[in-house]
Amino acid sequence: MAAAASTVHACRRRRFVLPMLLLLLAVVRARVTALIVFGDSTVDAGNNNAVPTAVRSNFPPYGRDFPGGRATGRFSNGRVATDFYSEALGLGRAFVPASLDPDYGIRDFALGVCFASAGSGLDVATSRVFVSTPASINQTIEQSYLLTYTEFTVPKYTEYLVGLARAFLAELYGLGARRIGFTGLAAMGCLPLERARVARGGCDEGYNAAARAFNVALATMVADLGAELPGADIRVAEVYGFFEGVVREPGRHGFARADVGCCGTGTYEMGYPCGAWAAAPGGTCPDADRYVFWDAVHPTERASRLVAEHLINSTFGHFDN
Ligand SMILES: *[C@@H]1O[C@H](CO)[C@@H](O)[C@H](O)[C@H]1NC(C)=O
Ligand SMILES: *[C@@H]1O[C@H](CO)[C@@H](O)[C@H](O)[C@H]1NC(C)=O
Repeated sequence: MAAAASTVHACRRRRFVLPMLLLLLAVVRARVTALIVFGDSTVDAGNNNAVPTAVRSNFPPYGRDFPGGRATGRFSNGRVATDFYSEALGLGRAFVPASLDPDYGIRDFALGVCFASAGSGLDVATSRVFVSTPASINQTIEQSYLLTYTEFTVPKYTEYLVGLARAFLAELYGLGARRIGFTGLAAMGCLPLERARVARGGCDEGYNAAARAFNVALATMVADLGAELPGADIRVAEVYGFFEGVVREPGRHGFARADVGCCGTGTYEMGYPCGAWAAAPGGTCPDADRYVFWDAVHPTERASRLVAEHLINSTFGHFDN
């Protein structure tokens, strides 16, 4: 477990380029016996509470629909996608605890553990950018964006990230992992933040194209690597098409809004700026189930459940066979 944890620190990912990417590792004999999660804030179960970062969510209105109404550090009104995997894979637990959560110990982690952390990514620059004070969060978002486009062209950055992903997968294999699930990227140009900031309400199609290009490169790399590593079963889940469908036609899935988040104005708030709306009358939408996004970047519990169901049905459920 310690070895697995240390690999995480070598493998971080840039936040606003790849918000939905996560790594899921299923340790299997006859069936899935444990779920080990790597990724960023989209699947962080609260590790960010214990690390110095400006990206936090352990205060209201986060967690208002979580059991007990607890703000655990999940960037959601309730559970995140990986919590639903734990339930669907029959691990006897409807959530995955954070590795740094003092309420859980090594016995709990035998069924699964989350090493994901907000602001982390494959690229170490992600976490550097996001260690900052709450007051400067807008500035860091801006910096992160600028870094991406000044240091790299999109194809070069894609190649660089896919190379990091490959090294990470090979390292996990070296540690004994054989069944590994990896999601591609969602349509990040349709995040409320990007709509408001870049695309004047529409989706930023440049970002979406970058996400699709990354997914293609990732799938190619995984196919090559899988063929090289005896006994490896590495699967990339196609999240892009499904999630884009939800975002472009929210009504078909029972949502009222996909263009703004439930928290605050729904256009820029996440973390502390979202928390600032908690006490305001009407500061959050009354029914988060009607929204695809909880804050300007992260999906609601209901959207996460839907995506998790789709990924289980299409990809992750088949590890059991
Ligand atoms: C962040 O930016 C938004 C939109 O530009 C602005 O309304 C908000 O006040 C800023 N927040 C902080 C904490 O500076
Ligand atoms: C997943 O499969 C179940 C069982 O077949 C089905 O009820 C559910 O609607 C599916 N969900 C999605 C999002 O595909």
